[in-house]
Amino acid sequence: MKLGKIVESLPGWCTPKKAQRLFDLVIESNSQITCELGVFGGRSFIPMALAHKQKGTGFALGIDAWRKEASLEGTNSPENNEYWSKINYIEVYRKCTHAIRVNEVDDFCSLIRMRSQDAGFLIADNVIDILHQDSAHNIETITAELNLWVPKVKIGGYWVADDLLWEEAKKGYAKLPEFGLEMIEDHHEWGIFKKTR
Ligand SMILES: C[S@@+](CC[C@H](N)C(=O)[O-])C[C@H]1O[C@@H](n2cnc3c(N)ncnc32)[C@H](O)[C@@H]1O
Repeated sequence: MKLGKIVESLPGWCTPKKAQRLFDLVIESNSQITCELGVFGGRSFIPMALAHKQKGTGFALGIDAWRKEASLEGTNSPENNEYWSKINYIEVYRKCTHAIRVNEVDDFCSLIRMRSQDAGFLIADNVIDILHQDSAHNIETITAELNLWVPKVKIGGYWVADDLLWEEAKKGYAKLPEFGLEMIEDHHEWGIFKKTR
């Protein structure tokens, strides 16, 4: 499936190349539950939902607070906080739900509008096949997500981490091996890790 045009029509940061890799990973691994923390306009989420649609099984679960307060939590640079305080979150959320309808993936995905630190309590352990971590890139949020969400990923499942080189995120991502996450693909700014234990 050619994802380039779809990806470029959506607000966010995921590149067409990364979107294609996420799509392929869902297909190759026959993921049944794919989860994303940090959806924004659906630029990485819609491709994963489309993969479930192509497979005809499973679904993508997207978790995003779509609220300024969540984006400003933790240790961020002043520029980062300025950027995230100006976003029209309701409009971005609306664009994401619109993209779900337009791409006809309603039956293959769902959104939860909550902070990842709160939504994690609703999900059972050992159920997620692929998790894409792309919410706030600071040590506090990354660490909270690792503690809460790694147990929800099956052993042998995949953890995709975004913005590995982001200054405020580096110390958080340095903890991935402590959680049994072993890098299997290094895409420079993002990577795919396998849960080994
Ligand atoms: C970098 S954007 C996601 C980009 C998207 N995955 C893409 O590829 O275009 C980060 C998103 O995380 C959300 N966010 C920030 N802190 C969060 C938290 N604690 N829980 C859930 N979502 C959060 C923001 O609302 C924002 O939409």
